[in-house]
Amino acid sequence: MAPTWLRRALTVLLAGGALTGLVAAPSLAAGAVPGAKGAGDPYFPLQGNGGYDVGHYDLALSFTPSTGRISGVATIAATATQPLSRFDLDLRRTLAVSSVTVDGRPASFTQPANLGQELVVDPAADLRAGARFTVVVTYAGVPKPVTDPDRSIEGWVATGDGAFVVGEPQGSPGWYPANDTPRDKATFDFHLTVPQGLFAVANGDLTGTSTAGGRTTFDWHEGEPMSTYLATASSGRFVVTRGVTPGGVPYLDAVDPSQVAQSRPQLAELPAMVDFFSSVYGRYPWSSAGAVVDHAPSVGYALETTTRPSFDSAPDELTLAHELAHQWFGDSVTLCRWRDIWLNEGFAEWSSWFWSEHTGQKSAQQFFDQRYATSARNSDFWNPPPGNPGSAAGLFADSIYDRGAMTLQALRTEIGNDAAFLGLLRDWHAAHRYGNARVEEFVRFTEQRFPHLTGLPHFFDVWLYQPGKPTSW
Ligand code: ARG
Ligand code: ZN
Repeated sequence: MAPTWLRRALTVLLAGGALTGLVAAPSLAAGAVPGAKGAGDPYFPLQGNGGYDVGHYDLALSFTPSTGRISGVATIAATATQPLSRFDLDLRRTLAVSSVTVDGRPASFTQPANLGQELVVDPAADLRAGARFTVVVTYAGVPKPVTDPDRSIEGWVATGDGAFVVGEPQGSPGWYPANDTPRDKATFDFHLTVPQGLFAVANGDLTGTSTAGGRTTFDWHEGEPMSTYLATASSGRFVVTRGVTPGGVPYLDAVDPSQVAQSRPQLAELPAMVDFFSSVYGRYPWSSAGAVVDHAPSVGYALETTTRPSFDSAPDELTLAHELAHQWFGDSVTLCRWRDIWLNEGFAEWSSWFWSEHTGQKSAQQFFDQRYATSARNSDFWNPPPGNPGSAAGLFADSIYDRGAMTLQALRTEIGNDAAFLGLLRDWHAAHRYGNARVEEFVRFTEQRFPHLTGLPHFFDVWLYQPGKPTSW
């Protein structure tokens, strides 16, 4: 930036037309300003950034479990959505950046201490709106798990023989530079290098492996757009099983040796689950399926990492079904704001009940009835209401899952016809495939589809938004 006196003088001269043709920068990126530091989600104000849209991440990561250190080169292809003088990526400061280039030219950058996850990039030249550009970030460090508002941990979690890597809602900048808003979906390539003998697993298809100098690189490709929080790069000693479901979806399971026996009966059901949900919700949205079953007891939950959900230990049958159903609801149709979490969790949880019903075990209505018997005085069971978690700390409250799934089961009863109810879910997915949606959009979508059900506005208000046990709807 020029000193004030010079800018004033230039402004005066420009206004008079004296310098026309001499000052090149303004015509290249007129009005270039810094991109916003966040994407506008009130639960995570610094998450994501403004001013550009990522199309593709190419992540080359080398990991040494014995030291815990990773070193990475992230190549990010993006498009400017405004004239940009500067922009941020999200990356935690536990990872030190050594260089950034934009379109091959060195860019200056900072990792400000007061903005925990912002990597501020100042390219050598301003970017005009619509410009495609490539950022290359070289970085290294010992990643630390991120602690969430609900006090759970996520991100890069060391396991001794490798790492368990999950990113919802804000762990991804703990291991790679990202525009970490669920709304900026992108395709991914991963090149994960680990000591020979270990396996490294990411999203999508395994496209190659190569070993040199005692280290093996695993190349993974995810060709459909996914949200950054759904990326994974877990590694360790794994027993790998590959196959194809009867319906034709290739799958790969990577299982920690300590979990093989306990997960075998559930994983045997995985092909049937993928095919069942495909028959109910529409063609499987990804090119491969599977699971990562690690031993990471400090995590305490599973995550629907795209194509291949991640489990911190052997999953039970319902949890496996829940994470596989997320491949449609959560991963393909993704929440728009974090407060829309019901669209992910309520739908996945109800789907696990429906799997149980499909296999002749407990029916979804039996799940509903058992939970409905919970006293209205049990505030933690009924609150927060699934359509409004209230804060980031409430995102994964039990009520989002249980009452969230009950909402769908009650809706099934309201509609009174399974073909019509399942058609709603299927068309909802089709309408927002690989996109993002809000709870209000699902409400409107349903009301427009069933105009004769005039009680739906009241129904949704009671089940989704009113605190406490729903008693009449
Ligand atoms: N989406 C995951 C599941 O229910 C839960 C993720 C919880 N994450 C967290 N940081 N508490 O399948
Ligand atoms: Zn879930």
